[in-house]
Order: sequence, then C-alpha cells, then structure tokens
Amino acid sequence: MGRNRRRARRRRPPNPFKRLLIALCVLLSVILADLLLVYGYRPFVDAAYYAVAGPLLGVTPTPAPTAIPTATPTPTPTPTPTPTPTPTPTPTPTPAPTPAPTAAPAPRATILLVNREHTLDADFVPDDLVYLRDVVPEELLKVKGADIQGDRTAVEALIVMIRDAVAQGVDNWQVSAGYRTYAYQQSLVDEQAYIYRTENGLSAEKALQATYQLVAPAGASEHQTGLAFDITVPGVSFKGTEQQKWLHANCYAYGFVVRYPEGKQEITGYLPEAWHIRYVGLEVATVMEYNGWCLEEYVEHEGNTL
Ligand code: DAL
Ligand code: ZN
Repeated sequence: MGRNRRRARRRRPPNPFKRLLIALCVLLSVILADLLLVYGYRPFVDAAYYAVAGPLLGVTPTPAPTAIPTATPTPTPTPTPTPTPTPTPTPTPTPAPTPAPTAAPAPRATILLVNREHTLDADFVPDDLVYLRDVVPEELLKVKGADIQGDRTAVEALIVMIRDAVAQGVDNWQVSAGYRTYAYQQSLVDEQAYIYRTENGLSAEKALQATYQLVAPAGASEHQTGLAFDITVPGVSFKGTEQQKWLHANCYAYGFVVRYPEGKQEITGYLPEAWHIRYVGLEVATVMEYNGWCLEEYVEHEGNTL
C-alpha cells in the first residue's frame, strides 16, 4: 500500500511555477547577499527602522551629511627656476700672430761721419749705451770715471782688443773718456776757451779758435756717438808709450782707427790726438789702414754707408 502511494507521488507532473519561484528566491538571495557584502547591513536596518518607526514616532531620517568639499589645495607654485646664467664662453685667446721671420738685421751704420761739417742734433743719444764699469774687467782696463759710457758693440771690441794687448805683454791701460752729451761737450768748449782767455790772454774770438783745434764744437764731437774713446796710461803722457805704439799698430784689427792722425790735420780739422780712437768696424778700419786714409778720406772714396 505505502509502495503504491510513493509511486503515485512520483507520477505527479512537475509544477513549473514552483520551480520558477524557487529560482527567483535563489536569485534574490544571491542579490541580497551581494548587497550585504557591498554595503553592510546598516543601510537596510536604517531603512527598515525609518519605514516602520518614522510614521509612528514622527522621526525623519537625518540627512546624510554633505561632505565638505575638501578645499582644493592651492597648488604650490612651482618655483620658477632661476635661470642658470649661461656662462660667458671664455674667449679662446687669439694666438698672437707669429711674427714673420725677419731677415738678417741690417748691418750697423758704423760709419757715422761726425765733424764740423757733419754735426749731430743736440738731442741725439746713441740707442745702446753701456756703463763701462758694468762690463769691463777691472784688472784689464781702468775706467777713469764711473759715468763713462759707450756703445755696446764698441765696448765689446775694446775689451777684446785690450785683452789681446795684455796677453801680448802690454798692460796698464786706462779709458779717460767715452760718450759725451751735447751739453757736456759745450761745457768742455767753454772751459778751454776760458783758460785761453784768462791764462793765455787771448781775446774771446782767438780763444775760441784755439779751443776748436783741440775740442770739437758741441754737435761736432765723435764722443756724442758713443763710438769714440780716449785711451791713456794712468799718470803719464800717452804719446810715445808702448801702449800708444801697440794701439796704433793694432787697433784696426779690432775695428778701431786713430781718428786724428799725424799729417791729416788739414782734413780732420784737429791737431793730432794719439789717444782718441773711433770704432768703425773691421772692414772699414782695414781699408783705412791699407790706404792710409783718415775717415773723411774713406767716406770720400767709399761713401759713408756699409
Ligand atoms: N777732442 C775731440 C776733437 C773732441 O772733442 O771730440
Ligand atoms: Zn777724444
């Protein structure tokens, strides 16, 4: 009997509405579970409370606080970067132009003819003077005054010459004069003329004429060139000494000439001066020696340029 009842129950056709209802319940359960998971139970409790208690107790739901908008922070101004100064480029130094190779220096104009007809300006000063005491070995050659100067090239030739003389046994040399300024030459003229006037009783005119036989007028002295020296022996008259003889025989080989030699007074205009030598350079001195010329004669024959 029971077995028949179960068979009868199985045969009952399925109810489609019941299945649909079950499916809806399951779906709603899933949705509810999701809402609880997402929002929690509080909104549902509140909604139920206000739906039921509100009308009964006159309670209205507290509006959800409006969120205070967070003040939009003022953007911190991006500091304007201080412009890094563009470094001024260090200028590349312009290389100094390489000087063009110069040709061989022009030969010195050693033939500087100075006499009464060919004079120097008052402001003429040689461009390469040296103090003899700075360059001349003391044991070789006595320099009479600390202020005596001379042209560098001429002084170098003088040192070589005296060194050779000493090596040959002729020593005890002295330099009494070298470069003179125009003004100093004028003072020598005035001094000698005064002596002739006061000690020899000459008139001013005669005293000056006599002076100019020994002392050149200012501007007409070779001493202003720096190329002339008065060579002496300390304490004695130079003429006739072994030093004077050696000097006259050998000075040309060192570029010097005896500027006012014996027998040439008519040409040079001065009495012979055994002590006064002038640097003219080796070539000119040799030609003058060979021909027996004074400087005026050399210039007359050869010209005054090298
Ligand atoms: N003693 C010579 C001539 C001069 O004074 O230059
Ligand atoms: Zn002199």
